[in-house]
Amino acid sequence: MILLCLQAFLHHLLTMASSIRSSLLFSLFFFLAAAVAPSLQQSFRPKALVLPVSKDASTHQYLTQISQRTPLVPVDLVVDLGGQFLWVDCEQNYVSSTYRPARCGSAVCSLARAGGCGDCFSAARPGCNNNTCGVTPDNTVTHTATGGEVASDVVSVNSTDGSNPGRAVNVTRFVFACAPSSLLDGLASGVQGMAGLGRTRIALPSQFASAFSFDRKFAVCLSSSATSNGVIFFGDSPYNLLPNIDASQSLAYTPLYINPVSTASAYSQGEPSSEYFIKVTSITVGDKTLSLNSTLLSIDSKGYGGTKISTVEPYTVLESSLFAALTEAFVEEAAAINITRVSAVSPFKYCFSTAGIGSTRVGPAVPYIFLVLQGDQVVWTITGSNSMVAVSEDVLCLGFVDGGSRPRTSVVIGGYQLEDNLVQFDLARSRLGFSSTLLGRQTTCANFNFTSSA
Ligand SMILES: *[C@@H]1O[C@H](CO)[C@@H](O)[C@H](O)[C@H]1NC(C)=O
Ligand SMILES: *[C@@H]1O[C@H](CO)[C@@H](O)[C@H](O)[C@H]1NC(C)=O
Ligand SMILES: *[C@@H]1O[C@H](CO)[C@@H](O)[C@H](O)[C@H]1NC(C)=O
Ligand SMILES: *[C@@H]1O[C@H](CO)[C@@H](O)[C@H](O)[C@H]1NC(C)=O
Ligand SMILES: *[C@@H]1O[C@H](CO)[C@@H](O)[C@H](O)[C@H]1NC(C)=O
Ligand SMILES: *[C@@H]1O[C@H](CO)[C@@H](O)[C@H](O)[C@H]1NC(C)=O
Repeated sequence: MILLCLQAFLHHLLTMASSIRSSLLFSLFFFLAAAVAPSLQQSFRPKALVLPVSKDASTHQYLTQISQRTPLVPVDLVVDLGGQFLWVDCEQNYVSSTYRPARCGSAVCSLARAGGCGDCFSAARPGCNNNTCGVTPDNTVTHTATGGEVASDVVSVNSTDGSNPGRAVNVTRFVFACAPSSLLDGLASGVQGMAGLGRTRIALPSQFASAFSFDRKFAVCLSSSATSNGVIFFGDSPYNLLPNIDASQSLAYTPLYINPVSTASAYSQGEPSSEYFIKVTSITVGDKTLSLNSTLLSIDSKGYGGTKISTVEPYTVLESSLFAALTEAFVEEAAAINITRVSAVSPFKYCFSTAGIGSTRVGPAVPYIFLVLQGDQVVWTITGSNSMVAVSEDVLCLGFVDGGSRPRTSVVIGGYQLEDNLVQFDLARSRLGFSSTLLGRQTTCANFNFTSSA
């Protein structure tokens, strides 16, 4: 992971063959409590918004689409749950009559916590304007960040009543960051940026909530299907994943934690992480409670340790000692029910023959993995549908990977473990609602009815 601190980042900007003026000066953070609500054109006020989420087969990235610019065009984006903001490639094909660069010292710059002021010495275009503030768009898949102009433009998404998409609504001055085309390297083909859903004032959830005055809540339901979309809701439930199945009724709650040290690829000192952390207090596999180094399960003052949720890691990543404890227990428990181990298939270390494994409504019949969360009574259950990855017709692998001996975050719950689980992030109450697998509740994340009722 490339971890640039402020000086390194400035140096990086200077050496970048780019057009950002070298006198770019990033003042230390100032934070304005006052939110600037993007202005609205229409009087229709949605209670919630909805976006479809698909899974890219070759990269395992989760993709969504918004409409942006004037005239509106569809923009495909990688969903980055902990990402700081929306960033898009402005270097190619950005055409819009409503693009507005954020002028230095403007309210948009403070909302974006963008203290610097930059000029651009090539022809003016979106992403290259004088007297604008900058942030560092982050490709969290490749851990690369660059400097980018802060700007605003029209964003259009569909409203929802919780059951179907309704009419599209505009946020006329949606704040985002411009990036060079090179920042797209490593993202799924056709994608033009990343949709950051993290804990900042300009991430999508906060901007939508303040634009339409709804609760600072959003929910993600990733589909396990290659052909049917999952869904992201902004705003409160109902989240109907079949007529009369409001998946929000299945949620259990656990507190969200703030990591005081940014986990972004480039950041300034004192900046907290925009990612979502929870506290796993212990892990049980089958009926074995693992003996774990509890230091690893808390976030320390340097921002190491703890558990976060990520849509850019395809599989859950565990610090080495946690990985060893979990896999050892899983192998033992599996052997006890006559499940046969076979050779590893990368990136997994533990694979099994399907021959001895039955199937159930909640996936292959393997020992359950229980993440015991803060409060002890609150347990995230991972059944075979979320623990086992079919790598071929007769081999299933335990879908967890080893994160090495001193990773920044000890437990990163990845996309595969989130599929067909509803997770709701309540920013105002700082809590996570999670459903565990919806398969046991007769529905899936692919069951939102995307037929418009508008
Ligand atoms: C939304 O914004 C687009 C692009 O500027 C515009 O063409 C459209 O008329 C707007 N829709 C509404 C309802 O304001
Ligand atoms: C920015 O200002 C400089 C100096 O005044 C000028 O040379 C340059 O063309 C301007 N760039 C843009 C993108 O307007
Ligand atoms: C637990 O983890 C911490 C953080 O990596 C480490 O400093 C400590 O030595 C570990 N304790 C044991 C008993 O392994
Ligand atoms: C596992 O296999 C052994 C020997 O074939 C058998 O005795 C035992 O009942 C099996 N256990 C299960 C849980 O199937
Ligand atoms: C969502 O909104 C767009 C306009 O941005 C509209 O063209 C589309 O039909 C809507 N989709 C659904 C599923 O209602
Ligand atoms: C999906 O919604 C449309 C529009 O409300 C409705 O006509 C259709 O019956 C729904 N489909 C299912 C499977 O419920």
